[in-house]
Amino acid sequence: MAERYAALLAGAGTVRGLIGPREVPRLWERHLVNCAVLAELVPANASVCDVGSGAGLPGLVVAIARPDARVVLVEPLLRRTSFLEEAVAELDLSNCEVRRERAEALHGVERYDVVTSRAVAPLPKLLGWSMPLVAPGGALVAMKGSRAASEIADAAETLARLGCDTPEVIELGAGEPARLDPPTTVVRVVRLDEDVRG
Ligand SMILES: C[S@@+](CC[C@H](N)C(=O)[O-])C[C@H]1O[C@@H](n2cnc3c(N)ncnc32)[C@H](O)[C@@H]1O
Repeated sequence: MAERYAALLAGAGTVRGLIGPREVPRLWERHLVNCAVLAELVPANASVCDVGSGAGLPGLVVAIARPDARVVLVEPLLRRTSFLEEAVAELDLSNCEVRRERAEALHGVERYDVVTSRAVAPLPKLLGWSMPLVAPGGALVAMKGSRAASEIADAAETLARLGCDTPEVIELGAGEPARLDPPTTVVRVVRLDEDVRG
């Protein structure tokens, strides 16, 4: 299934400008495997929301890696949701749903065990969009790279206001079987409070 998704990204995804042509030779390491390692931070049978999914990264990959999870891909742009809907249909991914929305539109409506994202916004803004979607005891898992620690420092006030536990920076995929170099760096923030607003 992952191979079919890689072919879609390399084909229609490139033609329709959702992924740069220079990414095609490094699709597996930089995109698919890099995102697939998030699956280990998803509890059994969890609900997952991927904010700003773009061409499906990381949410669609998590849906492939974790058939027990229910994954919602949230993306406001029609060109991208059209590609996502076609990919979900083509892969027959019954655990994955596409919502053409901004994340804020789901505040007070939906809550998930895990809210993922990659390359969507700096952490203070991302927390404002994502934490209201996290169920109490659930977590935001944001792929952040080398700026993770400084983004956490910038977000101190937002973290306190939104009822967040102390953020963790976690490196994934350095060992077997992924052997990613560099590994995937994520910021994981658990939601403590019941009452969190955007
Ligand atoms: C740079 S792209 C990253 C796409 C994908 N996550 C990836 O890593 O390839 C950022 C995406 O976030 C989406 N986005 C921007 N603001 C958003 C919001 N408020 N709620 C949900 N998605 C948003 C954009 O439409 C865009 O597809």
